[in-house]
Amino acid sequence: MACVPKHVEHFSKFSPSPLSMKQFLDFGSINACEKTSFVFMRQELPVRLSNIMKEINLLPDRLLSTPSVQMVHSWYIQSLMEILDFLDKNPDDHKVLGEFVDALVTIRNRHNDVVTTMAQGIIEYKEAFPQDWVTNQNIQYFLDRFYMSRISIRMLINQHTLIFGTTNPVQPSTIGSIDPHCQVGDVVQDAFHSAKMLCDQYYLHSPDLILQEMNNEKKNHTVSIVYVPSHLYHMLFELFKNAMRATIETHESSNSLPPIKVMVSLGGEDMSIKVSDRGGGVPFRRIENLYSYMYSTAPAPQMGEHARPPLAGFGYGLPISRLYAKYFQGDLQLYSMEGHGTDAVIYLKALSTDSIERLPVYNKTALKNYKVSQEADDWCMPSKEPLDLRNYKVAK
Ligand SMILES: Nc1ncnc2c1ncn2[C@@H]1O[C@H](COP(=O)(O)OP(=O)(O)OP(=O)(O)O)[C@@H](O)[C@H]1O
Ligand SMILES: [Mg+2]
Repeated sequence: MACVPKHVEHFSKFSPSPLSMKQFLDFGSINACEKTSFVFMRQELPVRLSNIMKEINLLPDRLLSTPSVQMVHSWYIQSLMEILDFLDKNPDDHKVLGEFVDALVTIRNRHNDVVTTMAQGIIEYKEAFPQDWVTNQNIQYFLDRFYMSRISIRMLINQHTLIFGTTNPVQPSTIGSIDPHCQVGDVVQDAFHSAKMLCDQYYLHSPDLILQEMNNEKKNHTVSIVYVPSHLYHMLFELFKNAMRATIETHESSNSLPPIKVMVSLGGEDMSIKVSDRGGGVPFRRIENLYSYMYSTAPAPQMGEHARPPLAGFGYGLPISRLYAKYFQGDLQLYSMEGHGTDAVIYLKALSTDSIERLPVYNKTALKNYKVSQEADDWCMPSKEPLDLRNYKVAK
């Protein structure tokens, strides 16, 4: 354990290697080679872990020292060491390959609660210290990168364990967690259905769905892309929960609810999904804050079972969904009209050749971003007092 910093130092000097959807598929194709994947993973996982561990160490001391963040940090150290154990093992030995799959499963399980534990650390920090703009910016910057790194590491682990592990895949048509023909409309229906069940349980009614699909590449075809259905489902489920909550809370007094409209469109470059609600919208000024890990309108959920409010939790729905969209070079944006409703748009790449992992890398630029200090704004602050023009009269 004493040599952990040395390993982190060594592996963080390498940049992570982003994989394209095509490369992910190749690892899972007929001539997939477990040995190749093993040799890649035992180098790439330490690189990705070490890159982000360097950034954990740059967090403000008062956050880094909270028990929750310390716990998360210790999981990263433990997992790094477990993978490094395989560096001197023989890739031709089947027993080694089997042990590696088991080790990855253990690591994945160890890290299941990283997001909630981290969120708990943020709450502890918020309760103990006054918030300042610079620290908030730092934490936002860090968490976006940290959670993106986590998404990517879990993607690698899932692919390796699903393709080479002993349990047979549920759907043989998928390659690990990737569906080469992911039917977008079906995922929309599934996610809507789950959100609707939650909504019915909580509010005793729920809005309907109107779904429209436009395939501009092949007319009269449904829209399908090469994608990770579970990622798409995650984003849509979050958007539907938000849209339903807003719709119901703004139409409490009326007995009919405006439907949630979804438009799926496939073009030459983008596959876009727009989720439109008539839930009263959000003031423009607040839009950027909706992606913040530090502000949430919902009260902090109590830890423990059954305590979690079903349609609003930590306030991580939008920021994490946007990371999933960005992970394969897409994005998620909200267009809202206060008083009317909100359009949330998911942009994904239509072509699998454009779907390449977007990964944080620890370097001088990243380091500089942690050192930002509060400087004076280069735009004037409007004065709170009405301007007294008499002061400007030219003395006669
Ligand atoms: N469609 C929408 N209409 C109106 N307000 C919205 C909409 N989507 C999001 N919001 C506002 O943005 C806030 C943040 O949304 P987000 O999904 O990130 O967190 P949450 O819903 O509060 O909690 P969580 O999603 O973690 O359970 C919401 O609390 C809500 O105030
Ligand atoms: Mg939400």
